[in-house]
Amino acid sequence: MRLDDLLFSQGFGTRRVCAGLIQQGFIKGFEQFAGAEPAQSATEIIVTDGMPFSVQGKAWEYHERAYLMLHKPAGYECSHRPGAWPSAYSLLPAPLRQRPTKGVVQGVQAIGRLDQDTTGLLLLTDDGQFLHKMSSPKHHVPKVYQITTDREVDTKQIEKLLAGVVLNDDPKPVKAAAAEQTGEKTLDMTLTEGKYHQVKRMIAAVGNHVVALHRSQIGNLVLNEDLPSGQWRWLSASELESLSKKC
Ligand code: URA
Repeated sequence: MRLDDLLFSQGFGTRRVCAGLIQQGFIKGFEQFAGAEPAQSATEIIVTDGMPFSVQGKAWEYHERAYLMLHKPAGYECSHRPGAWPSAYSLLPAPLRQRPTKGVVQGVQAIGRLDQDTTGLLLLTDDGQFLHKMSSPKHHVPKVYQITTDREVDTKQIEKLLAGVVLNDDPKPVKAAAAEQTGEKTLDMTLTEGKYHQVKRMIAAVGNHVVALHRSQIGNLVLNEDLPSGQWRWLSASELESLSKKC
């Protein structure tokens, strides 16, 4: 792959901008492909996923497709055109927001949304097929939520969540795949669907109210505790494989 095509594919701007970055010597890490000369736009790079390089002194990795997790803080909307709150996408560096798909700048997209006030694990990708599979209701990918309520949780509420509750827009009851009380006013609940405000509406349907909501897990993928709120990281090949197996 030509170096300018590589940079364009990774979201570093138009081909012209990428050619400019190369010409100004801002790209480092491809010296082995350029011989004694500094790498030029036409330098052929043998790409491998995860290959490190730097742009204007900032470290980056080549990824043919982007798969990442963001530890979403409260106070961010999962929308490119947010209303009252900043966009969760603004927490990502520009190349991830500018990655082209079939030549058109689209950036990565969130796989399902979290409410503005919900924190935790948000997956993002520029792989349309993966996004579709992971968010399709057919595939029932389990998602674990840690919930804090304003009233005490009791066994009756847990039983109702497991048996199924009726939400106002659907006569068919929705069930928690798992629900477990973890404290006086806390519980963990696993859902395999993703209806609008589903956790908050299910908790309201059993006579309680959510005061804090955190998504800790999607499939086998757990939000790692050492990823600070507001930070993101690439998924590893094995994490991706285990998620893909779920759908
Ligand atoms: N259910 C909700 O009510 N809110 C979320 O953000 C996610 C699931």
